[in-house]
Amino acid sequence: MPVAARGGSIAAARGGSELAGENVADNKRVVVLASGNGSNLQALLDAGIDVVLVASDRPDAYALERARLAGVDTAVIRPADHPDRRAFDRALREAVAAAQPDAVCLAGFMRILGPEFVRAFPDRIVNTHPSLLPAFRGAHAVRDALAYGVRVSGCTVHLVDEQVDHGPVLFQAAVPVEDGDDEASLHERIKREEHRLLPLAVSLLAAGRVRTDGRRAWLTAEVAGCRGGPGDPEGVPR
Ligand code: GRF
Repeated sequence: MPVAARGGSIAAARGGSELAGENVADNKRVVVLASGNGSNLQALLDAGIDVVLVASDRPDAYALERARLAGVDTAVIRPADHPDRRAFDRALREAVAAAQPDAVCLAGFMRILGPEFVRAFPDRIVNTHPSLLPAFRGAHAVRDALAYGVRVSGCTVHLVDEQVDHGPVLFQAAVPVEDGDDEASLHERIKREEHRLLPLAVSLLAAGRVRTDGRRAWLTAEVAGCRGGPGDPEGVPR
């Protein structure tokens, strides 16, 4: 039975935990791009996902250290080492393609991917963003949400298309904004949800279980307790 990847945030999150026990991505190869701390990379590694390469634009990214500790190959591709953005993009694309990934995961990768990169891995790139898209796109989503005064924020795990923070939504989870929250405390609460949903999304994507229909993404997985699919108005995990 197909499983809708979309729907209400709480429903999607609950469906996520039901799916999380499945090893749907056994033997699938995943490349992770990361620029920073790498807690989302760690969540993928801890979930048993076969990360075959971690590539970063920053040699000092702690994500690279996490990869080394896990025995995963690393690559550093710096924009400064390339004459222009297109050349950087090409170098990154070649490094990722050489690893023959079934899925590519952006886990805190702070560069905008060029169209040629995105086209090289059609519907195979997933990103996590720390807001409920389409609200608060961009590099300062948590800060912007706080400044706006929202009462609820969250995370969006989505496919990557040629626009920034834009592709079809796979999962969303809402988190409350609490009195006294600052950027760090709210981001930490959001990351707890990302760490739960990103491994699930990567696993399903790598296993070829994601279908798209315009802006809609659907998971096709045999999972007890789930229902739905394109054309099913009740197509949400339950
Ligand atoms: C995550 O919150 C992700 O949504 C955003 O950057 C953060 C990366 O965190 N794009 P980490 O490096 O995985 O800890």
